[in-house]
Amino acid sequence: MRIIRSRTELATLVAQWRNAGETIGFVPTMGSLHNGHLTLVNALDGQATRRIVSIFVNPIQFDNAADFQLYPRGLEADAALLEGTGKVAVLYAPDGAEMYPEGFATRITVSGLDGMLCGADRPGHFDGVATVVTKLLLQTGADIAAFGEKDYQQLCLIRRLVQDLNLPVRIKPVPTVREADGLALSSRNRRLTPQQREQAPYLPAALRACIADIQAGKAVDACLQSCRENLKSHGFNVHYLDLRSGDTLLTTETLTPDARLFVAASLGDIRLIDNMAAA
Ligand code: PAF
Repeated sequence: MRIIRSRTELATLVAQWRNAGETIGFVPTMGSLHNGHLTLVNALDGQATRRIVSIFVNPIQFDNAADFQLYPRGLEADAALLEGTGKVAVLYAPDGAEMYPEGFATRITVSGLDGMLCGADRPGHFDGVATVVTKLLLQTGADIAAFGEKDYQQLCLIRRLVQDLNLPVRIKPVPTVREADGLALSSRNRRLTPQQREQAPYLPAALRACIADIQAGKAVDACLQSCRENLKSHGFNVHYLDLRSGDTLLTTETLTPDARLFVAASLGDIRLIDNMAAA
């Protein structure tokens, strides 16, 4: 596995691959890798002849400077993990100046999808994601790129921008990977205190219970309200809990076939998100 830090070095290699008829699979990450990321790498088995994983903690998608500073980083451990898969040709790890040189002034906005759910209380977050993902897709020349369903809104937004900008890449959604106790894998889980880590699995458990109630025919509004109250009584600060279409992300009051339950809730200052198909 080659570790590449420069855009031009990556461009040269990608051009060589293209000439040799290789196809390129891509997994964008912010590092602090866990099994969820490795699942994204594995999801590209048989889909591309070369795989690139990027690690870049993208400053412009953090709405809070402290969160950016505290975001866990560990390039050596991450590189060892990727090397261990035997599947990754290149780890692309540009620095801030490589991605956003002096004078950088462009932002990509995916209107509508950026203002709801996590976009409502994280202004600018999804512009930052859309901008960096567009740059990374262009830099890597990816034919296919894998995105986890854990960040479902991000996945929808990337699909939209790829379609709108006619980017020649296929987006592959990958189901959420969970711990044995149900907690969705996330780099942020490492920042939970032992006590918060014990509380955290209540989040997916509450989603499952809420979905069971909705499926049993109880009124959606009442189910959501009692789930919010349950989460609060288990120490969560609930930012949103909504039943929405998995296609349009618009709220729905009935159990449509594409309905998903979406939640963001914090334990202390650690924000956790999750979502599940409801139908
Ligand atoms: O999901 C993430 O880790 C990030 O949002 C991404 C897609 C790597 C863009 O920085």
